[in-house]
Amino acid sequence: MSEIVRWAVNFKNFRPSKEELVKAVSCVQSEEKDRLIKFHFLDDFYSSLIGRLLQRKFVNEFGSLGYSDIHFSRDEKGKPIVNNKLNSHIKFNVSHQGDYTVLAGFVADKCQSGIGVDIMKIDYKGGKSIPEFFRLMTKHFSIVEWSNIRKHLKEREQLKSFMRHWCLKESYVKNIGVGITVDLQKISFEIHEDQLMTSNIVESTKLKVNGVSMVNWRFEEHLIDEDHCVAIALSDVQNCATGPFRFFNSEELLENSRQVTEFDEQYCEQVFTKAFKKL
Ligand code: COA
Ligand code: MG
Repeated sequence: MSEIVRWAVNFKNFRPSKEELVKAVSCVQSEEKDRLIKFHFLDDFYSSLIGRLLQRKFVNEFGSLGYSDIHFSRDEKGKPIVNNKLNSHIKFNVSHQGDYTVLAGFVADKCQSGIGVDIMKIDYKGGKSIPEFFRLMTKHFSIVEWSNIRKHLKEREQLKSFMRHWCLKESYVKNIGVGITVDLQKISFEIHEDQLMTSNIVESTKLKVNGVSMVNWRFEEHLIDEDHCVAIALSDVQNCATGPFRFFNSEELLENSRQVTEFDEQYCEQVFTKAFKKL
């Protein structure tokens, strides 16, 4: 088992010129360009583009594959994978939400090992009160989880705990590749450290699925800033140390990148007609 990679890019600072965007987009496969252009908002386009660039950077640096020799495909549930038989043990997953795109990955000895990551902004803008929002989400959390969320006195702390549990659940379903197609209430987390802090990584959280304790799983929880929590779900991995996220700016993201598709100015002009989400 090699080291675990934890990378993050704050895409709120990603404001490329046309020339820069043309270069960045040329580092993405054409079918992924087609998926990206369907995003309605520019923020979503950028956050997802950065995810694809992080994936290619990771596989290039850790999978010993030439930048332009890497070919990604997706499994039947949409999870990106590297399409290269020799490198089937390269495991990675991406999440983008709030202000960040994150990637977690490693190169495994065993193909059963897996990884899933999820990031959530600790924020609610759905237009309902927090108690009403929680009521609507009742069926997605177990009794143990709700008591953990509701034991906090302040609403902000409850929301923080809610987002933390949500991240944990998503990191698990993204590890196994099913996404949110399963009954989330049956995936129940037991939290042993109440507070997430930016200064440390919590590893003590345990998981039960259908009431059965899941052994050989590790959940790493990070607060990468005061407003964003991240969970990494690792299955069947041994001897790998925890560590913080490494942050990249856009130049670092594209360092060593190579063009994999034609420069496409027309595509980028279309991208620039998209609007940012109103906050
Ligand atoms: N398992 C793991 N990772 C997946 C995935 C899956 N089944 N499908 C996509 N991903 C990865 C991709 O890199 C994706 O980035 P992209 O949208 O830029 O391509 C990234 O996860 C998105 O993660 P995140 O930012 O955390 O998004 P989300 O919180 O909206 O949830 C899923 C993502 C996968 C959990 C959600 O879309 C889902 O439940 N899908 C259900 C699976 C499904 O029915 N897919 C149908 C497609 S055929
Ligand atoms: Mg998510």
